[in-house]
Parts: sequence; C-alpha cells; structure tokens
Amino acid sequence: MSEEFPMPRACPFDPPPRYAELREHTPVSAVSIPGGRSAWLVTGHANVRETLANPHVSSDRTHPGFPLVMPGFGENLKGSILTMDPPEHNRHRRMVTPEFTVRRVQGLRPRIQEIVDGQIDELLAGPRPADLVEALSLPVPSLVICELLGVPYSERGFFHARTAEILSKGTTAERRTAAMGEVRKFLHELVTHKVGNPGEDLLSRLVVKYQEAGLFDHQVMSAMALTLLIAGHETTANMISLGTVALLENPDQLAELREDPSLMPGAVEELLRYFTIVESATSRVATQDIEVDGVLIRAGEGFIASGASANRDPRVFEDPDTLDIHRSARGHLAFGYGLHQCLGQNLARLELEIVYTTLFRRLPGLRLAVPFEELPFKHDANVYGLHSLPVTW
Ligand code: HEM
Repeated sequence: MSEEFPMPRACPFDPPPRYAELREHTPVSAVSIPGGRSAWLVTGHANVRETLANPHVSSDRTHPGFPLVMPGFGENLKGSILTMDPPEHNRHRRMVTPEFTVRRVQGLRPRIQEIVDGQIDELLAGPRPADLVEALSLPVPSLVICELLGVPYSERGFFHARTAEILSKGTTAERRTAAMGEVRKFLHELVTHKVGNPGEDLLSRLVVKYQEAGLFDHQVMSAMALTLLIAGHETTANMISLGTVALLENPDQLAELREDPSLMPGAVEELLRYFTIVESATSRVATQDIEVDGVLIRAGEGFIASGASANRDPRVFEDPDTLDIHRSARGHLAFGYGLHQCLGQNLARLELEIVYTTLFRRLPGLRLAVPFEELPFKHDANVYGLHSLPVTW
C-alpha cells in the first residue's frame, strides 16, 4: 500500500515531517493521490531538478497519466503555457518573456508602491481587527495584474470581486465555476477592446505585436491573460500572508529588517524557500521510461517533483528548517525549475519586497489578533497559504 499524498503536516510552517525520511531513504517513492490513482513523489533537491529538466516529461494536464492532485483543476488551465510542451511551449513563452525581465518589472515599482500604499491607507482607515488577506494579500496582486493587463479603472472592482470569489473558501463549487466563466468572458472582451484601442499595458503590446500581425489569435491572447491571473494572484497573495506571519513570529529578524531594509530582498528569497507554497503544480508525466535515483518511472507514469521537500534538503541548505534571512537561499526551487520555471518571479519578488517593507514601516505595532494556533492555514489546497489573517496594530 503506498502512502497518500498530500501528507499531513505537523507544524504550519513546515512541510510534512515524513519528507525528511523519504529524502533520506526513498527519494523517489510511490504515493496514491486523491481519486486513488498512483504517482511517484520525488523529494530530494538534486532529483527534483533532474526530473523537471528531463526532456522526456510532459506538463500536459489532459494526459491520462498526469497526476492531477486537484481533480478538475486542469480544466482551468486549458490553452495555458503551464500545460504545454515544446515546441509549442517555446513559441508561446517567447512572446511574454521580454515583459518579465528584471528591468521591465522594475519599471512597475512606482505603481506597485502606490497600490500597496493605497491598500494600507484603506486598512488604516477601517476597523480593527482587520483581515489582512482581504485588505492586502488578495487586492495587491489582483491590482498589479489589472495594471499588467490594462483593465480599465472602472472595471477593476468587478474583476477583483470575481477573482476573490474564485479563491474564497466560502464559495460553492457552482459559484466558483460561474465566477471563472465570468472572468474568462471578461478577459475575452478585454482583448477585443485592446484590438484597435491599444494602451500602454502588456496585453496591448502583445495584441499589437502578435494578434494584429496574425501570429497568434484572440484565443491565445485570452488564455495568456488568464494564465497570468491564475498563476500570479493566489500565489503572491499567500506569500504576502505567510511571510507576514513568519516575520511576526520571528521578531528579532523583523527588527533587523526594519532597521536595515536593504536586507529585504534576501529575506524575500528565504521566505520563498521556507514556505515553497506551490507543490503539486510541479508535477509531470513521463513520455519515455526515465530512471531517477535508481527508480524506473515508466512512460505514462506521473510524478510530483516536490519543491517543498527539496527546499528543506540539508544537503543543499544548512539547518533547513530554520528561517534565516541572512542565509543565501539561492538555488531554492520555490519558482520551479526548467522550462516552466515561473515566468513572473521577478514581479513576485518585487511585490513581496514592497509589501513587507511598507507594511512593517507603516504599521509598527502590527500583531496577530488571534493566537497563532487559531490561524486557518490551507492544508488541503493547491497553493499553501492562509484563508484569513486577523491582525490589529
Ligand atoms: C510568490 C509568488 C509565486 C510563486 C511561488 C510562483 C510559483 C510558480 C511555480 C512553482 C511555477 C512552475 C510550474 C510548473 O513547473 O509547472 C510557476 C509558473 C508560472 N508562473 Fe509563477 N509563481 C508566483 C508568482 C507569479 C506571478 C506574479 C506571475 C505573473 C503575473 C506568475 C506567472 C507564472 C507563469 C505564467 C507560469 C508558467 C510558466 C510556464 O509554464 O512556462 N507567477 N510559478
């Protein structure tokens, strides 16, 4: 009988304790995933990198052997670069790569700062305690994506309400599907609007360069817009919440960061390593027999390459279960590895740096409004995080 994946956690800040034993003794082990199907779980840092870089694996979520941990989730990703293999993947990814270089992304810094300040103004003007997820974690990445896609100001409220509904715990499955449909329709219409009315945004540039030139069609543009939303919203939101809690729980390190904000980029990197909130997205199916650490993964079999485990591998990170903003977290796999490595990573880093710096500067008395043990961590979700984060100041 193989073990079930996902495995239980003991502490909300750490991945399942079983990973340490697996890394040591069976770094490629058989697991059963929701729905009763079997898959391989890859836990060592070197093996995770090796499998994600292997040319004989596929990201196609419709492949019958693909280990879909959240059944049905593949539907939302139809037509997305996340599910494509070369050469199609290269063509689509090349279209957006220039938009996410460090230089391009740094150009967004003043706008992101304004967005964060605006949300914190609202938070300060509102009642205490407040839910930081609702007040800051969800709206900031949503508004940044609106900025990228050039969503008109008058429609940002609609866009944000729908995306927040998709991600909210309280939303029924039917409402979630309906909200998803509304967002798809909205993005489709947005692309239509950009044709002939291009603005200064990323989506307009893509439409002008690729759609109007006949290189990609309307469908491709809408799928790209939806991918940026799906890939960049919940991930960044959960890192904002988790990073905030981790720094509140480590007041000495927080004090150092307040004293010297130049430590923040290193702290962001370490927080990304420490939490590695995206785990099951780095799953693949083998397209040929491949051997990993002496284990044969046959063509058609799926595996989960666990960055959450890899990033706690003591062969790569000394004392890996300790949060240490001074360590070099370089080489962490929180953004994946290989062809599909996160396209938006420079943007995510910048958002996190600005949010943490601004939040702790403007709310020096920020603290949890409930005991740590009562925080609602998301144990069962696609992306690890927090459903809500009650704070006061
Ligand atoms: C802290 C925040 C984030 C984390 C932890 C994260 C993590 C990841 C991971 C692990 C992957 C690899 C998936 C795979 O191997 O199949 C990925 C892919 C991707 N991410 Fe992110 N991401 C974050 C933020 C963002 C943002 C802000 C954007 C853009 C707005 C973005 C856009 C993408 C896209 C488009 C892909 C697919 C790339 C491809 O398939 O070639 N991500 N992300």
